[in-house]
Amino acid sequence: MEKRILITTAKFPKLVARQYGHPQAPAIILLHGFPADGGLWREVAPVLADAFNVIVPDLPGVGESTFAGDEVSIEEIATGMAMLLKDQGIEKAVIGGHSMGGYIGFAFGELFPEMVSGLSVIHSSAKADDEEKKAGRRKAIELIRKGGREAFINAMLPPLFADGFRSSHPEVIETQRKQAIEVADQTLIAFYTAMINRSERLNTLSHATFPVQWVIGADDKLAPPEKVLQQTSLANVNFVSVYKNCGHMSMLEHPHQLVQDIRQFATYANGLNR
Ligand code: MLT
Repeated sequence: MEKRILITTAKFPKLVARQYGHPQAPAIILLHGFPADGGLWREVAPVLADAFNVIVPDLPGVGESTFAGDEVSIEEIATGMAMLLKDQGIEKAVIGGHSMGGYIGFAFGELFPEMVSGLSVIHSSAKADDEEKKAGRRKAIELIRKGGREAFINAMLPPLFADGFRSSHPEVIETQRKQAIEVADQTLIAFYTAMINRSERLNTLSHATFPVQWVIGADDKLAPPEKVLQQTSLANVNFVSVYKNCGHMSMLEHPHQLVQDIRQFATYANGLNR
């Protein structure tokens, strides 16, 4: 059973999420990446609902969710997510974030550590953008401003998947492409600006009082294993999985494995004995 949640805050006139599973079960919130919406978790969230209360928002600016003004920061989104959980009576949750969702997860861990039972970092990194990355994002913003949204999406999306998956599952890439093209220019620009401005959060890891899960794609060009693996011994407790034949999108490339790993981590994080 899927339930729709809607809250309103000063920054977020509409924050919409889907809820799966028993509301009293241990909670997991799954934050999608860029440029996607909550539908990214379609093969993961309903399956985890047998044992968990799974909350899947559309991040502000995506789907029905909105933000006030032209800009939104990673920290503001993390705060909106905390308000969403509190609205549901959830005091602690596993915060699962894919890529940009992971950046939000790190900010959440810094701002609201008492609400985190575990942080699941899925193809993401606690490092800030380097200058080259920022320059690339600024170029993309210019392209989008000049009406090049579709060209931008068409160029950035396919390389997120491992080569083998891309050739064997063109329909999955097409579904994601269609979803991405729905995201408004203003949101794409606001998200890229938020990512440029985000802080490095390696300290959040070294001071973490919660366990951290790392899901890494061996063929991920955006969050490559050689960069992310360096971060996987900073927190006290780290669950590390590296998937072979996987790019940046394990929730679509290897959903069964991902469900199994999140389940194991969330069970540990919640102190459950299943
Ligand atoms: C994502 O997958 O969320 C983004 O592409 C992350 C990024 O651009 O850093």
